[in-house]
Amino acid sequence: MLTDAQIGQYHADGCLVLPGFKSADEIAALRQRALQLVEAFEPGDRQSVFTTHDQARTADAEFLASGDRIHCFFEEEAFDAEGRLTRPKAQAVNKIGHAMHDLDPVFERFSHGPALASLAADLGLARPLVWQSMLIFKPPGIGGEVKWHQDATFLDTTPCTVTGFWFALEDATRDNGCLWVQPGGHRGPLRERFVREGDAVRMEVLDRTPWPDEASAVALEVPAGTLVVFHGLLPHWSAPNRSDRSRMAYTLHATDAASAWSPANWLRRGPGLPPRGFQ
Ligand code: FE2
Repeated sequence: MLTDAQIGQYHADGCLVLPGFKSADEIAALRQRALQLVEAFEPGDRQSVFTTHDQARTADAEFLASGDRIHCFFEEEAFDAEGRLTRPKAQAVNKIGHAMHDLDPVFERFSHGPALASLAADLGLARPLVWQSMLIFKPPGIGGEVKWHQDATFLDTTPCTVTGFWFALEDATRDNGCLWVQPGGHRGPLRERFVREGDAVRMEVLDRTPWPDEASAVALEVPAGTLVVFHGLLPHWSAPNRSDRSRMAYTLHATDAASAWSPANWLRRGPGLPPRGFQ
């Protein structure tokens, strides 16, 4: 799948941009299915209980239960004081997560197959386990910034093997909030770990190495259909969407079965849905 030069570049930079990995038809099918899931989704009891406190508690419980489900998460700004959505669902949704790749036939098809399996092998994942999928909408105007972070913070294994697969479902530009990365930054330490204990979560500081400054960050402006693969320790962020169009992206995160999955990871799979590979 990859040339030796591409594999070398991935190890040097911690990321690799693969334009045209998915066809326009595949991209369109996933976008359409994502919008169907959002339209069919009912935001739940948010409208009945909507104090700030209850809202945070409901959001946490929904998040923690979503490791083996399909759940739509909405932008907080999209609700009024009574908990009603103030705009159409498709313009209010933040993301869908986290098991569409195993539970929904359209997502399942997009997320598996020989091309992804051979790419994962080239990246060093001998026995990949695809733990989560996220459809990130980044709607116009309301889609917020995602601060500098490393994905290994949220999917911790020993040794660190988590690898991100980021598919542009629409053209990603500086204006609509494309990814920014620090090439080579994956050789630095893991700074934080998101720890779950029962139904409580907290962020643990592991290393105080500062996040990259603007000068060492590179914007990945890529057309729809591009796949960006990146190492779990690579620092990255994305700006708010200040344009008048959305910036939909789809991500998969995989680890190698040979690495030890931390029992403190937030993401849990029930016994009926163990993680599987790309085939
Ligand atoms: Fe990330």
